[in-house]
Amino acid sequence: MNITANTKLYAVIGDPIAQSLSPQLHNGLFKENQIDAIYLPVGVKSEDLEKLMAGFRLLNFGGFNITKPHKMDIMKYLDEIDPLARKIGAVNTVVCQEGKMIGYNTDGFGFIKSIEKKLGDIQKENLSILILGCGGAVKSVAMALADWGVHEVIITNRTLEKAVDLAGQINETWLGKARAIPMEESSLRDVIENVSVIVNGTSLGMADHPERTPLAKTLIKKGILVYDMIYSPPKTQLLKDAQDAGALIENGLEMLLYQGLLAFELWTGIFPNPEQGKALLIKGME
Ligand SMILES: NC(=O)c1ccc[n+]([C@@H]2O[C@H](COP(=O)([O-])OP(=O)(O)OC[C@H]3O[C@@H](n4cnc5c(N)ncnc54)[C@H](OP(=O)(O)O)[C@@H]3O)[C@@H](O)[C@H]2O)c1
Repeated sequence: MNITANTKLYAVIGDPIAQSLSPQLHNGLFKENQIDAIYLPVGVKSEDLEKLMAGFRLLNFGGFNITKPHKMDIMKYLDEIDPLARKIGAVNTVVCQEGKMIGYNTDGFGFIKSIEKKLGDIQKENLSILILGCGGAVKSVAMALADWGVHEVIITNRTLEKAVDLAGQINETWLGKARAIPMEESSLRDVIENVSVIVNGTSLGMADHPERTPLAKTLIKKGILVYDMIYSPPKTQLLKDAQDAGALIENGLEMLLYQGLLAFELWTGIFPNPEQGKALLIKGME
């Protein structure tokens, strides 16, 4: 590629950063959309974040993504923050525009975009979603779902207090949209009767322990959508069980893809072709 003084800079910052698939995605999308830009992986420790931001302000940056552990800390160095990102308390995308850095959170809407096509013409107002887990990823997704206007988000977590706290935060803004339940079979059985989507937002089932699953197979109903935020392995034990039970399944690659496509759109005004984006991510994983 031909890098000149006009080439716009983009980056993903985090610690560690080598595992990020975002450079493969965005550099590929810039090329496919003939945009004169380059996207760099930048590892940065928390104590150096302020200096890095000062450096970014001096350079020709169009924007950047933020991954663990800086999604919260980055907020204090930005000029403006989108209201939903402020409510979530985390920023994963920054747009640099006319000397200002503006923060957004595309994680939650990435998830929503990815379930919309899977659910077909289902009415969001009638949608009840059960989310297993209550870490950073779930917070973004649960708040975005409430903001989008689903009927109800039910959150369950090993540490119940965290789920109660998150449901409380959601209900402060979107009254009655969230509730927390214990992660116990009897409580789960009661709510699963009325949910159309179950989301795994725990780390159970990741490649280090692929046999683990957050939900008993007997609780999975035919016809619902079971969505695992994990994408490695591509088919977790939960997704295998769900498929056996006759549920629709999706893994977290779609969420990763769509949060990236939405960031790309914020930077360039172009919503890229999802199939091209997915192929770039899969190639990056090889
Ligand atoms: N697809 C994507 O784009 C994407 C993006 C971000 C994250 N993710 C995935 O989402 C998952 C969560 O990520 P995160 O960043 O939110 O992590 P996190 O903040 O560390 O949260 C981890 C969650 O897993 C639960 N958990 C961990 N071990 C457990 C166990 N043995 N039994 C039951 N629950 C357990 C934790 O419960 P406690 O609160 O009780 O500890 C917590 O709710 C990960 O699998 C990650 O790979 C995917």
